[in-house]
Amino acid sequence: MDVETMKKLAGEKAAERVKDGMVVGLGTGSTVKYTILKLGEMVSNGLDIIGIPTSKNTEKLAQSLGIKLASINDYPEIDLTIDGADEVDPNLNLIKGGGGALLREKIVAHASKYEIIVVDEGKLKDHLGGFPLPVEVVQFGWKRTKLCLEKLGCKAMLRTKGGAPYITDNGNYILDCKFGTIENPAELEKRIDEIPGVVEVGLFVNLADEVYIGKKDCVKIMRKI
Ligand code: 5RP
Repeated sequence: MDVETMKKLAGEKAAERVKDGMVVGLGTGSTVKYTILKLGEMVSNGLDIIGIPTSKNTEKLAQSLGIKLASINDYPEIDLTIDGADEVDPNLNLIKGGGGALLREKIVAHASKYEIIVVDEGKLKDHLGGFPLPVEVVQFGWKRTKLCLEKLGCKAMLRTKGGAPYITDNGNYILDCKFGTIENPAELEKRIDEIPGVVEVGLFVNLADEVYIGKKDCVKIMRKI
């Protein structure tokens, strides 16, 4: 069975957790897309929810499916968010931002009473850091910000798209930082956040409550202990 099927299994299963009347954070990426497609189906069958999208792409997709949307400013407290991740460690800490939406995803995760992450089994790691850590930075002085990040022990690369710098939904750049094994995600998050010019870092520590893992023929659920 291929990765896409594992993503679909996890994404669709998590949609079962969404109930009538909920305000639901809608994540970004190719796994949570399956959750959103399922929610679209459920909405057309009568489910009444309000979605809070974490990116312009997700907003477009959800709108096309007839899911009612609102801004986080209208609903600063969210019942449940479902989102993807690039890496998950055994403590349910995450690397996110492969799709470039980490800032909005983190604000939405922080505002959520419950956060479910959907991944295929290949995203489970003993330690975070194999996936280059995305850091969203303001354009002004980004080379200085890069230097400061590299002093923390990584090689940072400006993300590009079509030969030009990749621009986030918030008008910022992303530096993808190769740290290798991250021994202490909480400490690294704190140190990166202290650098002027850093808007947000794709380390999500202690924000996920459950992870739905799509496997060959089932979905395994990991819960925070
Ligand atoms: C976007 C993200 C995504 O959730 C993450 O990149 C996983 O995406 P996919 O499910 O496509 O692998 O953090 O900013």
